[in-house]
This record gives sequence, C-alpha cells and structure tokens, in this order.
Amino acid sequence: MHTDYRFLAPDNKKQSRSCSCATPQAIGNLTNINHTPELELLFSPKLKHMAVLKILEYPDPRLRKKAAVVEAVDNAIKKLVEDMLETMYQAPGIGLAANQVNVQKRVIVIDISETRDNPLVLINPELITSGQDVKGEEGCLSVPGYFEPVTRKDRVLVKALDEQGSKIELNADGLLAVCIQHENDHLEGKLFVDYLSSLKRSRIRRKIHKTPQGGH
Ligand code: NI
Repeated sequence: MHTDYRFLAPDNKKQSRSCSCATPQAIGNLTNINHTPELELLFSPKLKHMAVLKILEYPDPRLRKKAAVVEAVDNAIKKLVEDMLETMYQAPGIGLAANQVNVQKRVIVIDISETRDNPLVLINPELITSGQDVKGEEGCLSVPGYFEPVTRKDRVLVKALDEQGSKIELNADGLLAVCIQHENDHLEGKLFVDYLSSLKRSRIRRKIHKTPQGGH
C-alpha cells in the first residue's frame, strides 16, 4: 500500500504541514491494528453493509470530471457516504472525494483524527479561504506513492450539508483546512499534481504507468 512515509521521520520539519488525502501522518499504525478482530468486524461489509470502492488513479480521465450538486441527501447518498468512509479507512487515507470512486457528486469524507473515529462528511461544500499561503507536502489516494509540496491557504470557512442533510458551517485551519481544499479540488476535477511543474507532473505520470503499485 502507501509506503512512502519519508516525511514522518522525526527530524523532518515538514511533518506538521503534511497533507492530504493519502497522507498517513494522522493514521498512526492503522496498518498494524487493521488486523485486530475488532477492526475486521468494524470493516466487514457483511456486518455493516458497506463496500470498499475502487479508487481511480491518475491519469484516469474520469478524475477530471466535475462533480454535480447533490439535490437531496437520500438513502443512495447515505450509502455512498458509508462506502466512501469504508474505502478511505481501508486505503488508508485521511480524505476522499466522490470523484475518486467514479461518482460525480459533490461529496467529501475526511478524518484527520489519529484514532480514526472522527469522520467529517461535507456534501455540496462551499469554501471561503483566507489567511496566509502555506506550503506543505501532499499526497493523494489517486496518485499513490507520491508526496509533493503544494501551496494552500491556511484557513477555510466551509458551508455544507452533513450526512443527515443538515446545514453545517465549519472554520478550519492547519491540516484540516488543507485537506478540505485538496478534497474540494477533486470535486472540480483538479488534482494536487496540477500545482506542480509540468516536468514533475509528467515524471509522476510516467512512473505511475510503469509501477503496478496501488493494486487497484
Ligand atoms: Ni486526493
């Protein structure tokens, strides 16, 4: 799976700013605890009727499709949210946008908690970014194995619907603010590699083609 943990080295000052949806920093040893009976139970599709969805990988053109507004938070959307959470936790990642599982709806799931039990669901998110420009390393479940510096705003106000269809408003900063911006980009068909130089982007593209990593 995602084994590029180089920025987790204790002497790496970039650690606190690392993001985003594939960043394992907030995940701890999930790979290890994943094998405990409790988690096997928790993640069992049979018990919770959830499913792990296939994550599209760069440069799949479907990642470039713009997601549509969710008209109603109905049972189909609730099922999508459950499946996306399952997929994100299993990957493991700290964020996932519906485009990444080939559903062009404006749905995002995030969990930056170390305990992996504090999911944030954002449906039809609207962002107002503010604050300073900050540079931090980002990765993406759709670009497995690559982490590159991206500049984002360090604060974001987000208005959205939650998984029950209720309106929520959230002020975020730090890792969460960056993660929300990263995931919201997905809804617009944008990937973090778009912020890189074309040289770097084509290098990643070539390597991903050659390497069978990701396993999807
Ligand atoms: Ni991503």
